[in-house]
Amino acid sequence: MEFDRTQDARALPDRPVVAVVGATGLVGETLLTVLAEREFPVGALVLLASEGSIGRRIAFGGTEVAVRRTEPAAFDGVDLVFFAATGALSRTLAPEAVRRGARVIDKSASWRLAPDVPLVVPEINGALLDAGAALVACPNCTTIGLVMALEPIRRAAGLRRVVVTTMQAASGAGSAGSDALAREERAVFAGAECVASDTFGAVLARNVIPVCDRLEADGASTEERKLVLETRKILGLADLELAATCARVPVPIGHSASVWLETETPLSPAAAEAALDAFPGVRVAPAPTAADVAGSDDVLVGRVRRGLDGVGLQFWQVADNLRKGAATNAVQIAARLLAQGG
Ligand SMILES: NC(=O)c1ccc[n+]([C@@H]2O[C@H](COP(=O)([O-])OP(=O)(O)OC[C@H]3O[C@@H](n4cnc5c(N)ncnc54)[C@H](OP(=O)(O)O)[C@@H]3O)[C@@H](O)[C@H]2O)c1
Repeated sequence: MEFDRTQDARALPDRPVVAVVGATGLVGETLLTVLAEREFPVGALVLLASEGSIGRRIAFGGTEVAVRRTEPAAFDGVDLVFFAATGALSRTLAPEAVRRGARVIDKSASWRLAPDVPLVVPEINGALLDAGAALVACPNCTTIGLVMALEPIRRAAGLRRVVVTTMQAASGAGSAGSDALAREERAVFAGAECVASDTFGAVLARNVIPVCDRLEADGASTEERKLVLETRKILGLADLELAATCARVPVPIGHSASVWLETETPLSPAAAEAALDAFPGVRVAPAPTAADVAGSDDVLVGRVRRGLDGVGLQFWQVADNLRKGAATNAVQIAARLLAQGG
């Protein structure tokens, strides 16, 4: 559906009417938590989800809001819409929301690679928001953690090539993924038969699955393609050599990544750590785990070292996929749009 998504959008009022599409999902729920934690000045809240959730009441700001049907008319009078449902819904309904004058922050993959849609991690390229685009895309949960660790190193010494292997939590596949892991763990501990879920295509409990999302004809997975293309777009490095393998691990929350990279100019591990620690939203820790970062907005980086043969730098990076990987990043974008004022 064509629409002018680069049009100068209406400035947000001081207390915007906010809609969340997918309010009952993992990202939607986390969005509401982060909006409340950061005291985002929500003027009124419109919560939308699938037919099965209509009428469900969700607590927010000392009151309860009933979930409504997801339809274009729901955006009438709304200033800011977070899309945290399916890619298909974002494709069809984001243009409807923009046409009605709303600013849109989309968590799905639908608009991320559109050349005229800013793909934003505020600490890195938040200045793109100043151009006034009506639709802003939020990167994939794995991409955000990785670029938060790459950007300080790039600023210090440039980036030549990157090799990354990710170990991604079950909740990265939404509530279906979380539920599948919980179900399988219960079966394992009960000594019952464990059946592979449709979400992961294999039993995840006590296992590692070397594919996230689905495989494409060239042997790469859709997740790996997102990670590579989105990283290049956010960093503005169209030719960055980047090889990615994305695996699913039986962890509830928190994506981990093992990274090897080569810089353009020499950078010692100590200088890399200093650059990482000085970057907003990144903290250096000795050997951070997924459990350490779950519930936190920071990206943790540890085990920063030279490659064993002296070539390149290696480190370990973890981020909460539902917070900085999704909801927190979206709320940071919203806060910057709000700060632009009228
Ligand atoms: N999970 C992550 O770590 C993560 C990170 C970054 C980005 N994302 C992206 O964020 C989005 C949401 O992910 P999630 O993990 O929160 O998924 P989820 O837990 O499965 O939640 C999906 C949400 O979408 C709603 N929904 C589904 N079909 C709908 C329909 N036809 N009409 C209206 N609402 C519908 C669901 O409503 P019901 O509850 O009524 O079914 C639910 O609120 C996805 O685009 C995902 O790719 C996820």
